[in-house]
Amino acid sequence: MEFHDRLNRGMWSRAPVGDVVAGHVHSDLTFSVVTPSSVREEQNHVGDLKKIADRLNLNRQYKIPSYGHPCTGWHALLAYVPDAMNEGLRAIGFSLASLRDWKVKQSTWAEISAETESGSLDCRGTTMVDRWTVGFFWIHPAERGRGFSEHLLRATSTWLQVEPQDLAWHAPISVAGQAGISQLVGDPVWVGY
Ligand SMILES: CC(C)(COP(=O)(O)OP(=O)(O)OC[C@H]1O[C@@H](n2cnc3c(N)ncnc32)[C@H](O)[C@@H]1OP(=O)(O)O)[C@@H](O)C(=O)NCCC(=O)NCCS
Repeated sequence: MEFHDRLNRGMWSRAPVGDVVAGHVHSDLTFSVVTPSSVREEQNHVGDLKKIADRLNLNRQYKIPSYGHPCTGWHALLAYVPDAMNEGLRAIGFSLASLRDWKVKQSTWAEISAETESGSLDCRGTTMVDRWTVGFFWIHPAERGRGFSEHLLRATSTWLQVEPQDLAWHAPISVAGQAGISQLVGDPVWVGY
C-alpha cells in the first residue's frame, strides 16, 4: 500500500531530508542535498526514491546509474512539493552529480542525437578530468510538464557552484533529458562517459 502510494505520488516525508539548499527559490519546490558523507538514513531515502524511478522506467526510456556504492560518490539533490493531503512534503524529483574522474568532451546536440539513434556511445576525443557531471535527473511522472526539471537543474548548478554550461551530462542522455538540457545549456554541451 505504502509503496503504491509512493509510486503514484512520490515519497512522503515530514521535512526535507539532508541539508536544505538556499539560493534557488521556487514557490512550490524545496530542495535538499544528500552527499556521500551524509548519514546512512539520508542515503537510504535517496535510494528509496531511486527505486521509484527504477520501477516507473516502464519502457526503459532512461538509464539510472547505481547509487549507494561508496565509489560512485554521488551527491543527490532532492526536490519536494508540499503534500496536498497530509502535512509534510513529497519527494518528486532528484538529480545525481559526481566530480570523480570522468572522460569528457564537448558535443553538439546533432552528435548526441546521432548517438541516441545508433544506440552506441562515441567516446573518442574525450579527456579524463574532474568535472562535475550530472549522472541522472528525474521528475515523477505525476509532476512532469510543470517546468520543474529546469528548476531542479538550476538548483543543482547553484548548489554545486558550477554554471549549467560548465556541467557535464552523463551519456546516454534520454530524449526527454536532451530537450531540457539543451534549453538550459545551449550548444555544444559537455558530455561525460
Ligand atoms: C526529463 C524530465 C526530468 C523532464 O521533466 P519535466 O518536468 O517534464 O520537464 P519540464 O516540464 O521542465 O520540461 C522541460 C522541457 O523539455 C520538454 N520535454 C519534456 N519531456 C520531453 C520529451 N519526452 N520529448 C521532448 N521534449 C520533452 C518540455 O516540453 C519542456 O520544453 P518547453 O518548456 O518548451 O515546453 C522527465 O521527463 C523525466 O524524469 N524523465 C525520465 C528520466 C530522464 O529521462 N531523465 C533525463 C536524464 S537521462
